[in-house]
Amino acid sequence: MIVGKEERCPAFIFLIRILELNFALESKTVMPDLGVNIDHVATVRQARLTYEPDPVWAAVLAELGGADGITLHLREDRRHIQDHDLYTMKKTVQVKLNLEMAAEQEMTAIALEVRPDQVSLVPEKREELTTEGGLDVIANLERVRSCVVQLQEVGIEVSLFIDPDLDQIAAAKNSGVHAVELHTGRYADAVSDDEQQREFEILHRASEFTIEQGLKLHMGHGLTYRNVSKIASIPNVSELNIGHSIISRAVLVGMEQAVREMKALVTL
Ligand code: PXP
Repeated sequence: MIVGKEERCPAFIFLIRILELNFALESKTVMPDLGVNIDHVATVRQARLTYEPDPVWAAVLAELGGADGITLHLREDRRHIQDHDLYTMKKTVQVKLNLEMAAEQEMTAIALEVRPDQVSLVPEKREELTTEGGLDVIANLERVRSCVVQLQEVGIEVSLFIDPDLDQIAAAKNSGVHAVELHTGRYADAVSDDEQQREFEILHRASEFTIEQGLKLHMGHGLTYRNVSKIASIPNVSELNIGHSIISRAVLVGMEQAVREMKALVTL
């Protein structure tokens, strides 16, 4: 005799529900959060050493456009973001505040005072135009670990910006961080479809390894409205940090609109 739905015992139905829920959770695709990097707004302001445009206003508009996080890089030479920007943003920004900084004691002391939600440790050279390569965690493990311990002690999450290299990911895991941000620059700079596909496969493999290590997967650098979708489709990417392309579009269409358009691309 076939047992009708209404005749199944409640325990059986409960078990089915649990299995369905588990399946739904396991097969859930993580939608990447969009972190908007507002450094370039400060770059324009610093070109005239004046008060406008204010990166704090840009952060507010980015939030209105759907940003899940605001990222800013306080550089040792203070070429764009100033200390007061960081302090004001801490009071103003309602979404995740992500501070990019070098793994140095001066910056660690500032982060400990301001308490952003997350710190992303990046390599920093004075002469570079932007962050050029990933942090060499293997060569700097003790210095990195010292920053990580101090930041985590006060509840700040730490991410390391590294190249998509399995040994660097393993070293990042060793340093005790919760996340890595894989450098997408080589993918973004690829000049042919073949080269781009090769770089994409490297990122894909590194992403899988990151997740296997139990780390959160972030990605960023050089991502644009044209090349972001493929990266956003990599399973389990939980955060994308994008600056130059969004600010460039914002100059023409407005900050809120530029963020809204990027958010749509990373969410689909
Ligand atoms: N992630 C990190 C660690 C960065 O240093 C930068 C550049 O400041 C970005 C992401 C954003 O890169 P882009 O400006 O090319 O989008």
